[in-house]
Amino acid sequence: MRRRFDWMRTLHPVTQAGATAALEHFTTILAREAIGNPRHLETAPEEIRRLWCWHAAEEIEHKAVAFDTFLLAARALSPFARWLVRLRIMAAATFYLFDFMFRGMAEFFRQDGILTFRTWMRFVKFALVSPGVIRRILGRYLLWYLPGFHPWWSDDRALVAQAEEMIALPA
Ligand SMILES: [Fe+2]
Repeated sequence: MRRRFDWMRTLHPVTQAGATAALEHFTTILAREAIGNPRHLETAPEEIRRLWCWHAAEEIEHKAVAFDTFLLAARALSPFARWLVRLRIMAAATFYLFDFMFRGMAEFFRQDGILTFRTWMRFVKFALVSPGVIRRILGRYLLWYLPGFHPWWSDDRALVAQAEEMIALPA
């Protein structure tokens, strides 16, 4: 992580803002899924469910902050050039995110003594079939690649309200 962050700090500020916005797009679509699909947290202890709901709601609330910062930082670019920058950054961010995630998972599997082909197959089933987290967020992920995309294209305020209801303690 440290090496990667050191490298990222050498990139152009517009790229850094864009990379932050790209990663926030991931947290947003995952947050939507966490709140909108009760199945993900149904077996979690109550406190953990409340913590994740709070965090997911918070991710949705600030989902456009980095994106708007990127738009401001890249204001000298034409809309077309800005779109190309966004495409390039998201492709790279997706690669690095999955690279990091898979390495982390491999390390956890190794520590638990389950670093086997069968475990990876179970992960593929989890990601793509049931509950199919990656399959379910794919459509929204791809919205990023459309020209003129903005995080508030989808109004998620109802989900935030739903999360706030879930985290409220009984009076
Ligand atoms: Fe965030």
